Amino acid sequence: MSTCTNTGTVATQAAGLMGKIKDRSARVGVVGLGYVGLPFALEKAKVGFHVLGFDRSAARVASVNAGTNYIGDVRDEELHAAVLGESLLAATGDWDRLPGQDVIVICVPTPLTRNLTPDLQYIEAVTAEVARRLRPGQLICLESTTYPGTTQEVMKPLLEASGLKDGQDFYLAFSPERVDPGNKRYSTRNTNKVVGACEPASREVALAFYRQTILEVVAVSSSQAAEMVKVFENTFRAVNIALVNELAMLCDRMGLDVWEVLDAAGTKPFGIMSFYPGPGVGGHCIPLDPHYLEWKAREFNFNTRFIALAGEINRRMPEFVLEKAMRMLSDHGLGLRCASVLVLGLAYKRDVDDARESPSAEVLHLLAQRGAAVSYHDPLIPRHREDGRELESVPLTARTLGEADLVLILTDHSAVDYRFVVEHSRLLLDTRFATRGVTGRPGQVVLL
Ligand SMILES: NC(=O)c1ccc[n+]([C@@H]2O[C@H](COP(=O)([O-])OP(=O)(O)OC[C@H]3O[C@@H](n4cnc5c(N)ncnc54)[C@H](O)[C@@H]3O)[C@@H](O)[C@H]2O)c1
Repeated sequence: MSTCTNTGTVATQAAGLMGKIKDRSARVGVVGLGYVGLPFALEKAKVGFHVLGFDRSAARVASVNAGTNYIGDVRDEELHAAVLGESLLAATGDWDRLPGQDVIVICVPTPLTRNLTPDLQYIEAVTAEVARRLRPGQLICLESTTYPGTTQEVMKPLLEASGLKDGQDFYLAFSPERVDPGNKRYSTRNTNKVVGACEPASREVALAFYRQTILEVVAVSSSQAAEMVKVFENTFRAVNIALVNELAMLCDRMGLDVWEVLDAAGTKPFGIMSFYPGPGVGGHCIPLDPHYLEWKAREFNFNTRFIALAGEINRRMPEFVLEKAMRMLSDHGLGLRCASVLVLGLAYKRDVDDARESPSAEVLHLLAQRGAAVSYHDPLIPRHREDGRELESVPLTARTLGEADLVLILTDHSAVDYRFVVEHSRLLLDTRFATRGVTGRPGQVVLL
């Protein structure tokens, strides 16, 4: 009898929260207002939810509350309207406002330790704050990328230490963020989203929440499956990028043009997918996430050899770029030690303002270490610290290009006029084939 009543109460509570989600009266808290959290918070505010962002950075909280944008994928006018126009979005650093939220979405960093093992300190710290203030009827969703098992093995026990139970009193789910910064075609709304949970009731509530703003929501059977989906997606990219990077190094040795080979291979109408070589991999995801899986696999006495190999090849690319630059200079009677090198692009990929883990920074560092006089231009990254020195992005002029012994394209931002770059450079090493369709003087432009 009491079980029956309890089941009924649980169902009523879940239905109540789903009702609030559907009529948008549910209050949404988003913890971590970075590349993932701020666009997510805005997306929810745009459809009418009252959203409160939580961040430990007072500067970020102040920016959001002033309607001032700091994330490339967020449109200034939309943030301004959501914060100052409709008052649907605000930010705070006060954890005591967590119980006022019906849904709490966690988007904090998941870095690696120096030994390439998962560093869950941010997830644990935030979960502990939530657990301390957990109240019945709340949905807690983790969006940070992590190894399979985090939601069930790390978060659930912390939250249940409150005395409340997942799937009955509160709802815990994992739904990985798939945002691709700088992608103009796919945003949060039209990128399919995977949702998994430890308990069926939690999954239902989470699905109802995500279906409010995402066109296609894909349910999987557990939080572990959802976590595995995300790390697999990023491992897939890391491995395929490593494969073409290895091909680039082999083509270099064999005197073949890897870009010609890849373009021609890409004409096959089935069974192939285009990946391109470059100076290495960067950002918060591709270089880090596969190591989360690698670490977890060890618990099962399993070696993820593709991950280790891909990491090794991708980490070697900055050295390869350096070698190729040295060869080019030496072919023209110059040594790196007395050469001036202008690097184009510091961001880890095209059209983003993010230099985290950027291979460009590593190449710049290697060049400086070998005694080259380095400078850089990046329209999206005005300043960069290299070995304790503050470097400023130099303007891209005929003079800055012409003065460099070697111009090195490391990131192919679309705002740069590569015809102009070819026209005014003396020697150009293009690691991204940004100069496609532009003909230089004989021997002037070398591709990776
Ligand atoms: N950036 C991407 O392209 C991307 C894409 C998909 C998934 N992810 C994953 O999403 C997660 C977040 O990544 P991001 O790029 O948005 O990170 P970020 O560094 O841009 O933002 C994280 C935010 O969390 C805040 N924060 C950190 N610790 C906190 C705490 N204890 N309390 C409150 N706020 C705290 C930081 O101040 C920062 O504003 C990571 O797991 C990442 O792997 C990132």
